[in-house]
Amino acid sequence: MRILIKKIKKLVQTEDKPKLKVSGKQMAKIGSIDNAYLILKNDIIEDFGKMKDMPQIEGNYKSIDASGKMVFPSFCDSHTHLVYAGNREIEYNDKIRGLSYEEIAKRGGGILNSAKLLNDTSEDELYEQALPRINEIISQGTGAVEIKSGYGLTLDGELKMLRVIKRLKETTPLIIKSTFLGAHAVPAEYESKQSQYVNFVINDILPKVAEEKLADFIDVFCDKGFFTVEETDKILKAGAKYGLQPKIHANELDFSGGVQIGVKHNALSVDHLEYIGDEEIKVLKKSKTMPTILPGAAFFLNMPYSPARKMIDAGLPLALASDFNPGSSPSGNMKLMMSFASINYKMTIEEVINASTINTAYAMNISKISGSIGKGKKANVFITKPMPSLEFFTYAYGSNLIDTVILGGEIY
Ligand code: NIG
Ligand code: FE
Repeated sequence: MRILIKKIKKLVQTEDKPKLKVSGKQMAKIGSIDNAYLILKNDIIEDFGKMKDMPQIEGNYKSIDASGKMVFPSFCDSHTHLVYAGNREIEYNDKIRGLSYEEIAKRGGGILNSAKLLNDTSEDELYEQALPRINEIISQGTGAVEIKSGYGLTLDGELKMLRVIKRLKETTPLIIKSTFLGAHAVPAEYESKQSQYVNFVINDILPKVAEEKLADFIDVFCDKGFFTVEETDKILKAGAKYGLQPKIHANELDFSGGVQIGVKHNALSVDHLEYIGDEEIKVLKKSKTMPTILPGAAFFLNMPYSPARKMIDAGLPLALASDFNPGSSPSGNMKLMMSFASINYKMTIEEVINASTINTAYAMNISKISGSIGKGKKANVFITKPMPSLEFFTYAYGSNLIDTVILGGEIY
């Protein structure tokens, strides 16, 4: 079955030659075609071009008139924790009253609060709680998402989370990648015995995760008050034995050395990056690692903003993801993240589009099949409401401008 989308005001993020990511000055450019058509055949992008060159389609097809509207490739959200139990709006009150993220964590709140809830929640219930979040991000234009474990912090809890992610992979139209984040926080039972917990992650949880093939990647929260560089090194080495490439939490709370250790282990991405100096930029420049900012978390926790402009101006690529989680970013709305990135990080519309499509696809190792409008890529796109200009998309930051979502060639 084919879908023809015709009279598209602007077809956004088109590519002639396949590329895996864009860096530096290239980030300020996106391919686009005005007055365009797009043909989807089953779950693949078959053809696109200018209306005047539109071919005749043989056989049955569904036609959509997109006059005045734009078509984007679906967003790839390369960093989320969207499988979790309950919410943490109580801590949100604490935060408003002035407690910091670290202070909340020290009081047994934060990640440990979610871990307690998660261990008391059944696998089915956890799946049921995740589904509305999945449906919400689909309606907000996301077509691919990475989801982490890390609220279990027990053998059963971590496996439960990863099995739920696996079930979401099998039952939803999104492209989903899963990441094992056993080293997200030290559980209460291991208080003052952090090295024992690290050994437990490596010797008891990781082999089971690998045996059941539950993870695509491995993550560690390498930061002040969480896991050290040495512990991160040990965990990533163990992950490599099972073929798990790292994507790590780094430099959110301090110059933690997280970027350096991530690059040393050929991490696919290093994420957060509120604390980035010349040294980190130098190390990233020599690597294939995708620096990733999470503007929702910085907004929600009132943190200093990552020096995104400086990184792009130094020639680095940059990705931007939602970090959807109950503690530091209770939203997976990528359009909103793009607006945050434009205003708070001084990124142009072209830069935020590259950062949330092709570069996040790279950070999930899927840029060969997603992240742009290219022939042979997966038919994951959305049609906007009528828009006067491309800039309008992030300018109208509170408006829902997504009209029709198509994933795998099906209309949602
Ligand atoms: O990416 N920084 C570490 N982990 C999450 C927050 C998790 C939580 O607070 O529940 C993050 O912000
Ligand atoms: Fe995170």
